[in-house]
Amino acid sequence: MEATTDTVVIKAPKKSPLILRMVVLLFAMVCGVYICLVCLKQINTHTKTKFLNIIAINHQNQINQSCQVPDLEKSEIGYVHYPKPQTFKRKECACNPVRYFAILSMQRSGSGWFETLLNSHINVSSNGEIFSVRDRRLNVSSILKNMDKVYNLDWFSSASKNECNAAVGFKWMLNQGLMENHEEILKYFKKKGVSAIFLFRRNLLRRMISVLANSYDKDAKPLNGTHKSHVHSPLEAEILAKYKPKINATLLIRDLAQDEEAAAKAVEYFNATRHIVVYYEDVLNNRTKLNEVQDFLRLPHRELKSRQVKIHTTPLSNQVENWETVEKTLKGTSYETFLHADYQLHSSPQSALIHFT
Ligand SMILES: *[C@@H]1O[C@H](CO)[C@@H](O)[C@H](O)[C@H]1NC(C)=O
Ligand SMILES: *[C@@H]1O[C@H](CO)[C@@H](O)[C@H](O)[C@H]1NC(C)=O
Ligand SMILES: *[C@@H]1O[C@H](CO)[C@@H](O)[C@H](O)[C@H]1NC(C)=O
Ligand SMILES: *[C@@H]1O[C@H](CO)[C@@H](O)[C@H](O)[C@H]1NC(C)=O
Ligand SMILES: *[C@@H]1O[C@H](CO)[C@@H](O)[C@H](O)[C@H]1NC(C)=O
Ligand SMILES: *[C@@H]1O[C@H](CO)[C@@H](O)[C@H](O)[C@H]1NC(C)=O
Ligand SMILES: *[C@@H]1O[C@H](CO)[C@@H](O)[C@H](O)[C@H]1NC(C)=O
Repeated sequence: MEATTDTVVIKAPKKSPLILRMVVLLFAMVCGVYICLVCLKQINTHTKTKFLNIIAINHQNQINQSCQVPDLEKSEIGYVHYPKPQTFKRKECACNPVRYFAILSMQRSGSGWFETLLNSHINVSSNGEIFSVRDRRLNVSSILKNMDKVYNLDWFSSASKNECNAAVGFKWMLNQGLMENHEEILKYFKKKGVSAIFLFRRNLLRRMISVLANSYDKDAKPLNGTHKSHVHSPLEAEILAKYKPKINATLLIRDLAQDEEAAAKAVEYFNATRHIVVYYEDVLNNRTKLNEVQDFLRLPHRELKSRQVKIHTTPLSNQVENWETVEKTLKGTSYETFLHADYQLHSSPQSALIHFT
């Protein structure tokens, strides 16, 4: 038995060289052809996407010069636009890609400040709270029409830039028709490639105080008879911060829970759209956070600035008339941390005023 297997082993090499050579040659040929095919295919799809892009531009802009289309990853294509405004020509920037965004936030969450920071970027137009006007959000068609106008660069506000926009958007409070019409709006965001920037406040108690103070200010108007939601000087901030609201302790927990739910619900509704969640406190503590936002919008990095001055800068306990009651109400609840989370502020009034410049 052993002898026969031996002979087989010894005989085999004598027979094989020609067959082996043929097999190797065939294998090499098949490999070569396969590699060529793969290469061709890649070149093909590559040129195809480029070609499609150029067609899209020409179709939308009816420009005859061919744009230098950036080499986009597939996932990026739906987010890049070449709007053709009806009200002006984009001239030398007609071929600059534009991205669409919406800042989704709640009142008194620092979105005004955040927006001025974004608008200090030379290539960003964030057009404010366009849906604070009731008429514009009466029905879905009205909402979509107004968004079309913004994204086509035909909306004019003090923030509108010239033809060299790289990102255009606006800010939208959750209670301005956004939640009621979330299905249609999500559809629109996905179809148009709108990126959502959620801006929330971690400390909802501070937000509540700011809401109460701002609503008091609407009636009392301590700044020479004008209502100001945002201020630009330490003196104005000091005057506004003098008012200490009284918080209804019966409703406190319920109200905080509602705010928390609203924020979570918003993220859930729009989670199928490209989005980022930014917290006001994080930006306040670390301005480099804004780089993440610029990256998200694919903007060239700039140092972003705002002239707004923070209104409430003293410890929370100084800002509420019935602080002891509030403290008692929140102790032992999941909101207890709101009582202690103060910013890293200095004690002298001069340095306590944070200048956002
Ligand atoms: C582009 O070319 C077409 C045909 O050549 C011409 O009719 C059209 O006016 C041109 N458009 C612009 C914006 O130059
Ligand atoms: C939607 O509201 C606008 C006003 O903003 C009104 O002119 C229009 O008729 C309304 N459309 C529908 C379908 O209700
Ligand atoms: C930003 O704006 C400047 C000046 O208007 C322009 O030269 C530049 O091309 C723009 N950058 C982008 C990315 O659009
Ligand atoms: C109110 O107006 C007076 C006179 O115009 C001015 O001197 C003062 O600074 C103003 N105060 C505030 C808080 O704006
Ligand atoms: C707090 O809110 C409750 C419910 O709305 C109300 O009954 C109560 O009078 C309020 N308390 C104060 C002090 O305003
Ligand atoms: C959307 O929400 C669902 C359920 O809350 C979650 O499982 C999923 O990961 C979310 N998707 C994205 C893209 O965030
Ligand atoms: C500030 O934010 C940047 C970007 O998110 C991060 O890399 C950095 O570590 C942060 N710095 C501090 C001091 O937290």
